[in-house]
Amino acid sequence: MAFITLRQLLDHAAERGYGVPAFNINNMEQGLAILDAARDTNSPVIIQASRGARSYAGDIMLRKMIEGLVEMYPEIPICLHQDHGNNVQTCLSAIQNGFTSVMMDGSLKDDAKTPADYDYNVNVTRQVVQLAHMVGASVEGELGCLGSLETGEGEAEDGHGFEGKLDKSMLVTDPDEAQRFVLETGVDALAVAIGTSHGAYKFTRKPTGDVLAMDIIEAIHAKLPNTHIVMHGSSSVPGEWQQIFNDHGGEMRETYGVPVEDIVRGIKHGVRKINIDTDLRLAAAAEFRRIAVTSKSEFDPRKFLKPAMDAMRKVCADRFEAFGTAGNAAGIKPLPMSEMAKSYARGALNPSPALPQAA
Ligand code: G3H
Ligand code: 13P
Ligand code: ZN
Repeated sequence: MAFITLRQLLDHAAERGYGVPAFNINNMEQGLAILDAARDTNSPVIIQASRGARSYAGDIMLRKMIEGLVEMYPEIPICLHQDHGNNVQTCLSAIQNGFTSVMMDGSLKDDAKTPADYDYNVNVTRQVVQLAHMVGASVEGELGCLGSLETGEGEAEDGHGFEGKLDKSMLVTDPDEAQRFVLETGVDALAVAIGTSHGAYKFTRKPTGDVLAMDIIEAIHAKLPNTHIVMHGSSSVPGEWQQIFNDHGGEMRETYGVPVEDIVRGIKHGVRKINIDTDLRLAAAAEFRRIAVTSKSEFDPRKFLKPAMDAMRKVCADRFEAFGTAGNAAGIKPLPMSEMAKSYARGALNPSPALPQAA
């Protein structure tokens, strides 16, 4: 069995200077495509399920599916992570269902819409950290709200994301506050806001530093050199898949994602987990459209799903190579969660940044 915690995996990535894509999963085809790519490139992998995915597939089906993947690909360390947990209950029920890691997203209240203040975020995240670490599960927190610096708006995915407009101070994580947040909560990884948003419509032009604040990553890393930084909304929305989608009856307006080269720059400055959902959705949907238009009499779903899996596998393999994940699966010996729990209890895995001294 090769389940691994996020903390152990990202510690390994930090030691060796690579990043790990975290791919969202809802169904078997995504699972097989991601794991085939991981095997082809010898990469450890993070598979994450949103609350939407858990209600779409059901916790039992999702758990059995991941157990199946662990059995089919025993050489691949697999971290199963709750994406955007909205409260303590969501995070704990994920752990009960075999997740080795959870995200407590306290940047929003538990309606997943209303921006929360710093104290709310610290309190709820700290509670999850205390409980999760007792059983060895890892915790990702989020400081700052994901949303576009071009428009001030978030992109709600399945009801997750703020409504209306926010000003820049809430859309860009403050490095000093990040330092306090990590120390006060004890999170294993920190998701930051730098102008990315979920979904296909992130930027209206190829992003430059004014709308994709990679310099903030560098500033946070300088203050928190031992904290694993997470980039959400990090699909690159490749032009070639947009083209196939639109050439076969799709209507996706011109849009740009996060360029792979910016992510690679982030990895040099502490980014260890890179969240990708849209790119797999887009590649699969483009293939569904292509088959529907070019093989009009086709009605066997496998004839649609197989090319979609091939497309998703290619996207995953490209990211494993670009982020330096490739080649690292074989070097990791996953520790059971019970061992991680003992390390937390000994204080061996505490965050290490020093709080700024009072003047
Ligand atoms: O959180 C963002 C992910 O893209 C998950 O999306 O909630 O539609 O599954 P979802
Ligand atoms: P994308 O929509 O850019 O793929 O982001 C996914 C994500 O951040 C999931 O948490
Ligand atoms: Zn996200």
